[in-house]
Amino acid sequence: MIETLKHLEQEALAQIPNLKTEQEVYDFRNSVLGKNGSLTAVLKGIKDLSPEEKQSVGKISNELRDRLSAAFEARLTGIASERVAERVKIEFEDVTVPYPEKPLGKAHPITRALFEVEDSFKRMGFEVLESKEVTTEYLNFDAVNVPASHPARDMQDTFWLEGKGNVLSTQTSSMQNVILKSKSPPIRVIIPGRVFRNEDIDATHENTFYQVEGIVVDKGISMANLKYAIRTMLSDLFGREVSIRLRPGYFPFVEPGVEVDFSCPFCSGEGCRICKKSGWIEFMGAGLIHPNVLREGGLDPDAYSGFAFGFGLNRLVMIKYGITDMRHFQNADVRFLSQF
Ligand code: DAH
Repeated sequence: MIETLKHLEQEALAQIPNLKTEQEVYDFRNSVLGKNGSLTAVLKGIKDLSPEEKQSVGKISNELRDRLSAAFEARLTGIASERVAERVKIEFEDVTVPYPEKPLGKAHPITRALFEVEDSFKRMGFEVLESKEVTTEYLNFDAVNVPASHPARDMQDTFWLEGKGNVLSTQTSSMQNVILKSKSPPIRVIIPGRVFRNEDIDATHENTFYQVEGIVVDKGISMANLKYAIRTMLSDLFGREVSIRLRPGYFPFVEPGVEVDFSCPFCSGEGCRICKKSGWIEFMGAGLIHPNVLREGGLDPDAYSGFAFGFGLNRLVMIKYGITDMRHFQNADVRFLSQF
């Protein structure tokens, strides 16, 4: 019987490493150690042995059962760790491997230039407000001294909205009255915004573009303050000192009105391709706020004075970056945008 037991153990131990799954281990363990297993079958013959033999066979069979149980347990542990190893092989991610670079988005050149313009004005104590894209006929025209007969009201220039006398803002000057009514002097504000005109589009004209309006109102404000503010902003933007030149100009909301030029930052006024050999770049309209506009905004023109200006941001960005076609700004072409 001891021989049979030894044989049984060897067979079982040889078989165990081949078991692939937990279920196979359970089944095989049951077929050896279970109630109806092969070990139990062999031990049934124990009743025919002498008392001494019973004792030694009993001891041997208990040790054998322990060894086999341990071998089954070890196989179960082995299968579990093999499974973990297998999953690690499939699922392992090395988080330290460099990730393929994805192109990052960035701000539009107009937005970038606007941030620079805003920063410069903020350093001079200006507040930044945003203009409204849809406004009223009153704010866009009447409130800034544009009489009903003014050509700017011509259907060709303005996008009129159906219904209640609303328009798409044709100029950020439509915010002047809002500012004058909602703030009290001293007022120092710039108002960037998107404006719309019913124009044919070409390299230098868009129906949708950006302006920056500026309004300063206090006691004793003069053209000198205007010159200083604009010179400072432009010098900041181009990273070198520029000079300012004023020429007479007509705008209904200012008196006197001026056209503002600045010295070409690329040739320092000597004359180059960008300034068309003149040394000067035409920049914007400005002037001292018309008494009618102050009055319409609820301010006494005898007590307060102020300046206003409005410039096109698109053109300024074109000059700064050497862009020759305004249509690029709206095209959303990454080949253009990624250059900035
Ligand atoms: N709103 C004018 C335009 O769109 C620009 C302008 C000129 C604004 C003179 C002003 C100003 O505030 O004083 O052409």
